[in-house]
Amino acid sequence: MKQRTPVILIIAVILAILFVLYYMFVQSTSFLSSPYFWGTVVISVILALIHNALGDLIENNIYKDLTKEAKAEYLENRKKPYFKTLWKSAFAKQSAKEEKDILIDHGFDGIMELDNQLPRWWLGLFWFGVTYCIVYMLAFFFTDFADPIKEYDEEYKAQIASVEDYLKTAPQATQESALYNADYVAEGEEIFKTSCVSCHMDGGKGGIGPNLTDNHWINQPEQTLFKNIFHIVWNGSPNNPTMVAFGGTGQLTGNDIEKVSSYIYHINQEQKPITVSEGGAAPQGTEANWQQ
Ligand code: HEC
Repeated sequence: MKQRTPVILIIAVILAILFVLYYMFVQSTSFLSSPYFWGTVVISVILALIHNALGDLIENNIYKDLTKEAKAEYLENRKKPYFKTLWKSAFAKQSAKEEKDILIDHGFDGIMELDNQLPRWWLGLFWFGVTYCIVYMLAFFFTDFADPIKEYDEEYKAQIASVEDYLKTAPQATQESALYNADYVAEGEEIFKTSCVSCHMDGGKGGIGPNLTDNHWINQPEQTLFKNIFHIVWNGSPNNPTMVAFGGTGQLTGNDIEKVSSYIYHINQEQKPITVSEGGAAPQGTEANWQQ
């Protein structure tokens, strides 16, 4: 009679498999505090114990019918530690007689094939793999488990939220710290299109608000062009309340004003002015002479 796998080992394997399966679905170890997990553990352990008790019963019955020598051999075998036997069995070879019994009737060049039974651990792993695969496929197609689009969406939202959180607390550009930055021009243009274009029109060519592409300025509180733009967008115009203080009223953050100012600087300095003949508003204010 072969030595049976100790029930404690079976329970350990069951616990490991349960852990893997729960972890696969929950994607964190939070299930360790769930009654469902512990419920499955208790039921599985009880089943393993029942299975073991049945095994004991069967073994006892078989034992009763054994010959005296077989009984002695069985008792001797039982004393050997399980893992030692397992280790040895991994290297055990069939006797010549046993080999002959399982020899398949074909061969080539002296190479013969034996119809060995697959080891139980191998079959166990194989069926576990098959079941795992079926459960995984069903879960993949019929639940939202492991849905890459959903996961991407969630992660994307979390990223955006953390960027927003960061921006809320990040130090904002001020009149002193703000600088022209070519990298901000594209983003600044977007801000211009939502907050400014209604008065300053496409490309800043001017409408209700003055043409921002020419070198004539009504307001010139600062020495350099970029600082001047930032100043007016932050504080508004002292003479004309139509141009509101976007920074002062909190409609735009310091960083947004730095970006939109970079865009205005760009259309004023790095592009040709939009003249009256091209649909631009006529110059207003006096010609500016900015310091570099
Ligand atoms: C409701 C209309 C309106 C909106 C919206 C508006 N502006 Fe103005 N803006 C004006 C007017 C009118 C003036 C002229 C102020 C004055 O006469 O002093 C002006 C002046 C300016 C000036 C100074 C021009 C100069 O010659 O002194 C700048 C720079 C400017 N705006 C940028 C912006 C930016 C950037 C935005 C968007 C964030 C914006 N404006 C949104 C109406 C507007």
